Amino acid sequence: MNNIILTGFMGSGKTSTGIRLSYHLRCPFVDTDKLIEREAGKEIPRIFAEEGEQAFRDRETEVLRKLAGSREQRVISTGGGLPVREQNRPLLRALGTVIYLRVQPQTVYERLRGDTGRPLLQCADPAGRIRELMADREGAYREAAHVIIQADGMTFEDIIKEIEERVR
Ligand code: S3P
Repeated sequence: MNNIILTGFMGSGKTSTGIRLSYHLRCPFVDTDKLIEREAGKEIPRIFAEEGEQAFRDRETEVLRKLAGSREQRVISTGGGLPVREQNRPLLRALGTVIYLRVQPQTVYERLRGDTGRPLLQCADPAGRIRELMADREGAYREAAHVIIQADGMTFEDIIKEIEERVR
């Protein structure tokens, strides 16, 4: 399929880039986290608290399957942990071109300081958790990706331009 899928760690700019890219390409934008929240009827912190992380991960796989059933071309932003489950990686790649927005841990830390919407970062040492999770996930992000963009310090305009050039 012809979708453009944005992957990467929390705070890597998937949603902000995806919304702008969808305007630019004049096609619909969807965000897997938002689809899950709509389906569950509650926000992500409540899904984690009431159903647990595994149930959330099951919901992510289900959303990927549903997206695969649609013919409409879209820009799809994904939750930061979605490529970690092995079975999700071929599902992602089958949906379209997968762009991994790669950023340094420090960038994530600065962007998400004080954020309360990411259950995995509500801990005593979020900077350490970011470094650890990112290192654990790097292989999964790379395996799922068709294109890798080192996005620290880039403007949205730069990122969109690079996506266009590399998707072509
Ligand atoms: C998660 C990332 C979040 C959201 C959930 C879990 C993760 O999405 O899916 O909190 O495991 O990295 P964003 O990457 O949009 O923050």
